[in-house]
Amino acid sequence: MRHGRFEESMSTLLRDYGESVSFDWRLYRHDIRGSIAHAGALRRAGYLSTEELDAIESGLKQIGTEIEAGTFTFSKDLEDIHMNIEKELTRRIGDAGAKLHTARSRNDQVATDFRLYLKEESVLIGDGIRVLQRALVGLATANEGVLMPGYTHLQRGQPVPVAHHLLAYVEMLERDHGRLADAAERMDEMPLGSGALAGSTLVLDRESMARELGFARVTQNSLDGVSDRDFALELLSALAILGMHLSRLSEDVVLWTTTEFGFARLSDRHATGSSLMPQKKNPDIAELTRGKTGRLYGNLFRLLTVLKGLPMTYNRDLQEDKEAVFDSIDTARMALAVTAEMMEALQINREAVNRAAADPALLATDLADELVRHQVPFRRAHDIVGKLAAESARTGVPLDRLPEELIRELCPELLADWNALFDPVRSMKARGAVGAPSPDRVSARLSHWTKVLS
Ligand code: ARG
Repeated sequence: MRHGRFEESMSTLLRDYGESVSFDWRLYRHDIRGSIAHAGALRRAGYLSTEELDAIESGLKQIGTEIEAGTFTFSKDLEDIHMNIEKELTRRIGDAGAKLHTARSRNDQVATDFRLYLKEESVLIGDGIRVLQRALVGLATANEGVLMPGYTHLQRGQPVPVAHHLLAYVEMLERDHGRLADAAERMDEMPLGSGALAGSTLVLDRESMARELGFARVTQNSLDGVSDRDFALELLSALAILGMHLSRLSEDVVLWTTTEFGFARLSDRHATGSSLMPQKKNPDIAELTRGKTGRLYGNLFRLLTVLKGLPMTYNRDLQEDKEAVFDSIDTARMALAVTAEMMEALQINREAVNRAAADPALLATDLADELVRHQVPFRRAHDIVGKLAAESARTGVPLDRLPEELIRELCPELLADWNALFDPVRSMKARGAVGAPSPDRVSARLSHWTKVLS
């Protein structure tokens, strides 16, 4: 690359500062595929002979095999994966290799490789989401019918089935899956042929290259093709949101496994001990996921910041796109796999959650609803039940055991049915709207997910 223009060799400091092959080697398969498609187009345009094309193709495949096997030697002097492969190819096959970069720049090359790579990774992460969804549905199915307190403000609100709680995450993960698929759809266009920025005077058939590489479309503006990375941002953003969901699920596991909650038990395989306190069984696995969300957010901001002041078109700042994305991909894939394994093995302490769900205070809203059925305006009903709850809190007498005189005085309408009103199972059965947690609704949703995910 320097031979023609420069007299002095590059400072080793700059070499080390600027090399990317230590991380972009990951793109080797995509780089080789891209180069083979490009060489095919060069052949069709008459810039390569059939023999040269064959030599390029088999040479690249051979290099690919060696990289795969770990026997290929990368050189930092050659800066990136693209130069490493091309230089080695040329060393092996001579002039045909030196023709490969005809009508191409590393700018359109890297933008193409990166998209190919991210399209593939989006699918793999999507598969990881499916695995976690299945684990959650499995745990929900195993605990169908078990009730727990539902919370707002981390204060007990109303009873809900454990399955309903777990299925909430399945819905969130479904949207994460959709965001990834959307991002993958938008990134499905090929920049190859954009050249350094202005295409080339040697015109190649971009459509056929795109077909060969499995791209749905070609980019329509060469400047845009080499300079934007919004497709990477979309992926990072989808992964940041996914990370937020995994973090919330992790926080639930941290809470549920405390002595204070006692709602769930981590398998020994997924728990850690303390180096000092012999009794400890710690949920590090969930805390790590909660903590790693910082990376997923950070990487999004990292790339947003890299991009914000860039003049058109390619600028070397863009090399900073890759590590952020690689890190988010690795983090998301690991977090999904670990969380799935953890949830699969999580034991719900049914007795404890059912007991907590039987707290009569959780049915205060049901009392107000019952008054509404007796034609009491809801605001008045809320006020009446609020007085009962305050009395219960003041005296320490559970809501369902308040003195009969008080019920007679404040809400005589409820007196006849008073005891039956405090049955959480009855309360659940009544919650029959779409999306609400009646046993029928939850069971239907479980069947839905079991079918969709199988
Ligand atoms: N290593 C570079 C990157 O990752 C490849 C493109 C280099 N292009 C250039 N004109 N220096 O972005």
